[in-house]
Amino acid sequence: METNFEARFEEKLAKNDVIEPKDWMPENYRKHLIRQISQHAHSEVVGMLPEGNWITRAPSLRAKLVLLAKVQDEGGHGLYLYTAAESLGISRDELLDALHTGKAKYSSIFNYPTLTWADIGAIGWLVDGAAIMNQVMLQRTSYGPYARAMVRICKEESFHQRQGYEVMTKLAFGTPEQKEMAQDALNRWWFPTLMMFGPPDAESPNSDNAIKWRIKRESNDQLRQRFVNQTVSQAEYLGLTVPDKNLKWNEAKQGYDFSEPNWAEFKAVIHGNGPCNKDRLEARNKAHNEGEWVRAAAAAYAQKINESIAA
Ligand code: 3HC
Repeated sequence: METNFEARFEEKLAKNDVIEPKDWMPENYRKHLIRQISQHAHSEVVGMLPEGNWITRAPSLRAKLVLLAKVQDEGGHGLYLYTAAESLGISRDELLDALHTGKAKYSSIFNYPTLTWADIGAIGWLVDGAAIMNQVMLQRTSYGPYARAMVRICKEESFHQRQGYEVMTKLAFGTPEQKEMAQDALNRWWFPTLMMFGPPDAESPNSDNAIKWRIKRESNDQLRQRFVNQTVSQAEYLGLTVPDKNLKWNEAKQGYDFSEPNWAEFKAVIHGNGPCNKDRLEARNKAHNEGEWVRAAAAAYAQKINESIAA
C-alpha cells in the first residue's frame, strides 16, 4: 500500500508539483522540513534582536521608522514560517520550546553583535542579501505552505536589502569617519555572512536529501559563489574593500576565487559558543515569559468568541 503512496509522491516531485499538508509524504521528508522550516522561523525571530538594539539610536526619524518596519517584517516572517511548520504536525509550543532550551538551531549570523549604526547597514546589505540569494529558490520548494510563505518573505527581504545598501551608501559617501565605520562593518560581517549558506557541500549532511526532494534547488557552495559574484561590485561602487586578500576574478569559471570562512568558528557558533548566543537565548526566553499574559488574554478572548458562536 505504502509503495503506491510513495510512487505518487515521487511522481509529484518529478512533475514539479507541490506537496500539500494532506498528501502522503515519507516520514524523513516531513522531519527534514520541520527541521529546516523551524530553524528558518527561529532565525527570523532571533534576527529581530541585533537590529532591534538600534531602534532607539537610529540617526533620524526616517531611519527609525524604516528600521521599525523592517524588524516588524521579520517577526511576521517568523509567524508565516511557524504556521507552515505546524501544518506538518508539530505544535507551536514544541517549536518554541526547542528554541528556548537551546535544542534548535537558528542562523549563525545573529550571534554577532551590532556595535555601530553601520552594522545595521551591513546587515541589510549583506545578511538580507545572502538571505534572498538563498530564499529565491525556496519560492519553488516542493512543500506548498513553505513555498507560498517564501513569496511574500522574498519581496520584503528585497526591500530590507535596499534599506541596508542605502545606509551603507550614506556612510560610504559621507565623512571620512563615516566611511571608516562602513569599512569596519564590512570587515566584521563579510565572513560571518559567507557562513550563512551553510558548510561546504562535501560536509553538508542534509544537502543530498534536500536536493533529491526539491526542498533546496541549489547547493550551499553554489549560492555562496553567486553571492560573492554579485556583492563584490556593490562594495566597489561604495569604494569599500572586501576583506579578503585572495579575492580575485577567475575568467575560466566566470566568478571570483575567494577565501573560505573560518569553519571552526562556524561550528563553535552553531553549537552555542558564538559571541552572543547566550544573550540571544536569554532575550528570547525573557520576551516569551513576559508575553505569557498576552497569550492567556488572547486564548480567553478566542474562547469567548467560540462560546458566543456556539450559543
Ligand atoms: N547557521 C546555523 N546553522 C547552520 C547554518 C547556519 N548558517 N548553516 C548550516 N547550519 C546547520 C544545519 O542546520 C545543519 O544542522 P542540523 O542537521 O542539526 O539541522 C548543519 O549545520 C549542516 O548543514 P547542512 O548544509 O547539511 O544543512 P541544510 O541543508 O539545512 O542547509 C541552510 C543549511 C542553507 C541554512 C538551509 O537550512 C536553508 O536554506 N534554510 C532556509 C533558509 C534559512 O534558514 N535562512 C536563515 C537565514 S536568516 C533569515 O532568513 C532572516 C532574514 O531576516 C535575514
